[in-house]
Amino acid sequence: MKTLSYSFILRRLATLLAVIALTLVLLAGITGVLLAFYYEPSAGGAYDSLKFITESVPGGVLIRSLHDIAGNLIIGVALLQIAVMFLGRQANRDWFLAWLSGGFLALFAIGLGWTAIILDWDQIGYWRLKIEIGTISSLPIVGEYIRTILLGGDSIGSTTVAHMYAIHSYLLSAIAVVLAIVHFVALVNQERRQIGLSAASEALPESGSTVTSTTPEKPEPVSVGGGVG
Ligand code: HEM
Repeated sequence: MKTLSYSFILRRLATLLAVIALTLVLLAGITGVLLAFYYEPSAGGAYDSLKFITESVPGGVLIRSLHDIAGNLIIGVALLQIAVMFLGRQANRDWFLAWLSGGFLALFAIGLGWTAIILDWDQIGYWRLKIEIGTISSLPIVGEYIRTILLGGDSIGSTTVAHMYAIHSYLLSAIAVVLAIVHFVALVNQERRQIGLSAASEALPESGSTVTSTTPEKPEPVSVGGGVG
């Protein structure tokens, strides 16, 4: 019976996590588009439109919950994936694309969660953004530019919600979908490669044997002085 090696299990787990990440990203994307049917990206309008989605739109609670759960789970799955690839010692050139797409997917998932903090226009989101924007604007050289791009003015208001919404729903979500697809393809290609390698190694003779030819063996002529007992 074949025994499952540690690296085999971790590799399979990495592929499974890539499938889960892609599913979650697609789910968040689809439910995000459904939310956009009723969502109004403005100060005050955001809160009321989300209240309307929750209370009056059929299936609104489900769509909002699915979006929240999928969006937040992606962060956990993407971070877990990095740990699994690290433990599987997949730090080589063949895994470069998987590492690159997986690492950026984790960053973009965090970015999606962050840009959503003001989208529901509540007290927590407002004050959290105010504090965090203060930190961002203290960055040397680029800090003030980033602040202006995100806020769209001096204070948090309707333009801020519109800017964060555009970054969240058009820019970051589109990039996250592409990254999740690339990550999935990179992992599937690894699986294929490994299957090819193990098939090739199974076709090889047992270790210790020195047979190099694939043609059927012919009986060797017995040497007379060899003292065959
Ligand atoms: C890969 C795709 C996406 C991810 C990972 C994602 C992730 C998130 C997250 C984590 C939240 C915060 C949920 C919470 O904890 O309250 C959120 C909220 C939101 N997202 Fe997305 N999102 C994605 C795509 C989209 C798209 C395409 C749209 C619209 C076209 C959108 C619209 C919204 C809106 C309106 C909210 C606020 C809803 C609420 O607070 O319940 N999202 N998203």
